[in-house]
Amino acid sequence: MQPLIRLAPSGAIHLPPRGGKGSLRDPLSVDIDRATERGGHNGMMKIVAGNSNRPLAEGICSYLNLPMVKAVVKRFNDMEVFVEIQENVRGQDMFVVQSTSFPANDHLMELLIIIDALKRASAKRITAVLPYFGYARQDRKPGPRTPISAKLVANLITRAGADRVLTLDLHAGQIQGFFDIPTDNLFAGPVMVRDIKRHNDIGNTVVVSPDVGGVVRARALAKRLDTPLAIVDKRRERAGETEVMNIIGDVEGKCCILIDDIVDSGGTLCNAGEALLAKGAKDVTAYITHGVLSGGAVTRVTSSKLKELVITDSIQPTEAVKIARNIRVIPIASLLGEAIGRTSREESVSSLFE
Ligand code: R5P
Repeated sequence: MQPLIRLAPSGAIHLPPRGGKGSLRDPLSVDIDRATERGGHNGMMKIVAGNSNRPLAEGICSYLNLPMVKAVVKRFNDMEVFVEIQENVRGQDMFVVQSTSFPANDHLMELLIIIDALKRASAKRITAVLPYFGYARQDRKPGPRTPISAKLVANLITRAGADRVLTLDLHAGQIQGFFDIPTDNLFAGPVMVRDIKRHNDIGNTVVVSPDVGGVVRARALAKRLDTPLAIVDKRRERAGETEVMNIIGDVEGKCCILIDDIVDSGGTLCNAGEALLAKGAKDVTAYITHGVLSGGAVTRVTSSKLKELVITDSIQPTEAVKIARNIRVIPIASLLGEAIGRTSREESVSSLFE
């Protein structure tokens, strides 16, 4: 056997409870006053995490007042993943917290192997908690002889041994149907609405979809905020011509709130922002659930005229994100923690959508 090397500084992890229920609860959290019980109908609830977003997993444990399960998630020299669950999980209700974010394939393999380890350790039920489900954008064949990778990844997670999936703002709601196991798709919307109301003059606000594909999401937010809706409609009239950005709706003198599920290169966001400002918008703020922010995206956002980009911590923010002048991260540990607690107790999670 080759020697093991650590990928993350946290090899064996044992986190003691940090100050009781809700000690990390942020002011945006859902209004839950009941004490979270540890036990459920499916054994004792336990949380284990891969390396994709340790701070979020710690926040969830803190919300639930649970220690994280002792486990090592390491690499062999050739970067194969090795997992060892270092405590008894027999008959337990296990929740594996792992976003399949950058590096997507490594984090996906960690998730699959942790699930396999738990299954072979006789866990009673395993829920894959995917704050960000990577590969979701590949949810259809964009052309002949191309894969539907989102379905393949859903199959992998299911075949590895997951009994349930808990995720957040799937790129498209229909992806729930790619999993042949119960799948709960939480929304960051309620958390965002509270933040928007706190930081914006709602009376002069218009919610904007950055493309036609995002209209359903934007309309839902506009309804919650009771604001008008506008749409950025990108069109290329003829092949070879530059795309034209048309704005459907009145944005002149308005504070625009762009809403989207993913910011990756930042292209969609920054182009939409420029088009809105060119049409006389007073300012543009963006609320986007998953800050993928690859390549030069952070620089693109910081050098844009966007007033602010607000993302959640479904993907662990990089140092560049943390110090960016116009990017702010809002926590979602309490939302996920509450959903995990309710799932374990076999309670409804639908009120978390409101
Ligand atoms: C697309 O359908 C998504 O909702 C996002 O708009 C897209 O992934 C953003 O990508 P980028 O930041 O690279 O423009």
